Amino acid sequence: MSTQVILPRILEVGAGASQKLPAILSALDCRKPLIVTDKMMVKLGYAGRLQDALASADIASDLFDDTVPEPTAASIQAGVDKVRGGDYDAIVALGGGSPIDSAKAIAILGKHGGKVRDYKFPRVVNEAGLPIVAIPTTAGTGSEVTRFTIITDETSDEKMLCVGIGFMPVAALVDYELTLSVPQRTTADTGIDSLTHAIEAYVSRKANPYSDSQAIAAMHLLGPNLQRAYHNGDDRQAREAMMLGATLAGVAFSNASVALVHGMSRPIGAFFHVPHGLSNAMLLPTVTAYSIPAAPERYATCARAIGAAGHDDDTDTANGKLLEALEALNRDLKVPTLAEFGADKARFDQLLPTMAEQALASGSPGNNPRVPSAEEIIELYRKIWP
Ligand SMILES: [Fe+2]
Repeated sequence: MSTQVILPRILEVGAGASQKLPAILSALDCRKPLIVTDKMMVKLGYAGRLQDALASADIASDLFDDTVPEPTAASIQAGVDKVRGGDYDAIVALGGGSPIDSAKAIAILGKHGGKVRDYKFPRVVNEAGLPIVAIPTTAGTGSEVTRFTIITDETSDEKMLCVGIGFMPVAALVDYELTLSVPQRTTADTGIDSLTHAIEAYVSRKANPYSDSQAIAAMHLLGPNLQRAYHNGDDRQAREAMMLGATLAGVAFSNASVALVHGMSRPIGAFFHVPHGLSNAMLLPTVTAYSIPAAPERYATCARAIGAAGHDDDTDTANGKLLEALEALNRDLKVPTLAEFGADKARFDQLLPTMAEQALASGSPGNNPRVPSAEEIIELYRKIWP
């Protein structure tokens, strides 16, 4: 049996990769890019530096810096209107997962019209939008190498998963130097997201030899370096390993899918406005404990790859150590509970059936080694907030 692997056409990886933007746009024959980013990237000078580099290469660019965290259909509309009213031939997506996800939706809607809901899974969006050059500034969602975007419907709080080659950037410039200034909390949240991508891709029912190789490599990079980067943001070696690990984890899950943690995490994010990586972190130990019995060998391999268990540990021992390590990681990275985050318990209890329904509808729980019923998902939610 063969597996189809979908990747960006160009990957530029390492220190200074983002400065290659003018040459890469020229190679793609793009002359009028719109940079889609957020206010922080402008404030940090990253957007200006790119625009200066483009101007020196005689490439005139425009800026759309109104993307927001956890983007909604309404939040991207001004960007879509800008594309529809302009003559842009490329989108440069600069920032963390939210600006890149926003840019992906803008690239499709800007070219083909309609509403985000029209493009939601299970529709597969294989038509080409404007070509996207993604420059991630966190390590990270891996959005620079995935064929997915997530946009929230602000009227229903549903996180709409959109899937297809149309959302795959044509190029990704993976420059860890852009992550050196990432604050500690974001380093933790985005790093746990990457680790979750690698683990979920590896245990996914859609895992394949290609995605496995990327997931294992990602875990080897992320496991020993997440806490290092969190405790010392200036640790260049740790930052470089995290950035490459995040991108490889993105390749892994884009070609194998995520699973139950992500399925259950999106409704928490949408209803309680918990950052994506943080809601993953809240769920990861509990969902892993639930899933291990259905794929013990796979989880034991994860334990060894992230350095939580040794090669001499048998499967059960390794899995015990994995659960301990995930809980210790959350403590070290100061991951709050939902209560500590400030969510409302009565609302949480009331929303349980809706969250379970949305989790199942996303399709991700169906990729989990142990596929839960709606009732079991509710039980798992209750375990993280008894
Ligand atoms: Fe994620």
